[in-house]
Amino acid sequence: MQKEIVVSGIRPTGFLHLGNYFGAMRNYLRMQDDYTSFFFVANWHALTTHTDATSIAQNVQRVIAEYIACGLDPEKATLYVQSDIPEIAELYLLLNMLAYKGELEKTASFKEKIRKHTENINAGLLTYPVLMAADILIHKAVKVPVGKDQEQHLEMARNFAHRFNHRYGNCFPEPHPFNFGNQLTKVLSLDGQGKMSKSEHELATVYLGDEDEAIRKKIMKAKTDAGPGTPNTSKPDYIENLFVLMQLVSTPEVVQYFENAYNNCTIRYGDMKKQLAEDMVQFIAPIRTKAAAIQKDTTYISTIRKRGAEKARANASKTIQEVRKKMMGS
Ligand code: TRP
Repeated sequence: MQKEIVVSGIRPTGFLHLGNYFGAMRNYLRMQDDYTSFFFVANWHALTTHTDATSIAQNVQRVIAEYIACGLDPEKATLYVQSDIPEIAELYLLLNMLAYKGELEKTASFKEKIRKHTENINAGLLTYPVLMAADILIHKAVKVPVGKDQEQHLEMARNFAHRFNHRYGNCFPEPHPFNFGNQLTKVLSLDGQGKMSKSEHELATVYLGDEDEAIRKKIMKAKTDAGPGTPNTSKPDYIENLFVLMQLVSTPEVVQYFENAYNNCTIRYGDMKKQLAEDMVQFIAPIRTKAAAIQKDTTYISTIRKRGAEKARANASKTIQEVRKKMMGS
């Protein structure tokens, strides 16, 4: 039986952090064995908000190193850089003819970005979902491991696929968000201010490249409160977030211990954070060390990048030929 196709990408706009790891990377790792997977660095997408070429290039190298350090295996998954695949740009151009201005303007991420980037509201921001649809549809992917904030973009990719099929004949399967758990994991910023993000709340974001001491410091500073006043109450989201992180890096016994302490109101958040910090250090240190070693080996990274591009282009060129034929007759 043919394996299902998976595509996902990460924008090279900063250091990868726990939100990226648990929102995306962890799913990638589990998928590389059972699916035909394409994982890439979305450097064109980075241009919608970032203008510094040098830092984008550095971030591309780092994301590749971090992908591999986290356990992605270039022999199993195809790892590539978006701008190495010109077929994606062509499909983006063609899909733009199927995307309505009105629906693009209504996208939540666009509305948020024009609030934040008032000085540079470019058309690339508006058509961000079209480029993302091109990333996915170029490989005819059916599963897309992404965080919750990307669900609307996927819905748009499904709409474009559907519109294309309806207008020009069947070509694309519908891509759906995918997560191994029953819910998409959302890691919050440790100061309780929204989701963990690459560019905001640096001191409340734990990066995969953070040194042990930085990890400890950030976790010890995480927002807490006086603790529950009555047994078995629900948790405020910033406390729930600490439990989410603990479930991800600590043993089930440790989690249970603090769950019980929360439920009978004896919990001491200082102790919980100390434990979480140590378990987090154990989790991140090997990834950090490995990523640093890979980053130094630029020859290795370019070999991986080149091989990934060849594999991705072989698949992408089949799709683009089919699309050209259907849309333009040849
Ligand atoms: N928009 C995604 C994000 O910000 C990154 C991305 C670009 C992506 N193209 C994609 C994710 C294709 C999945 C599939 O996280």
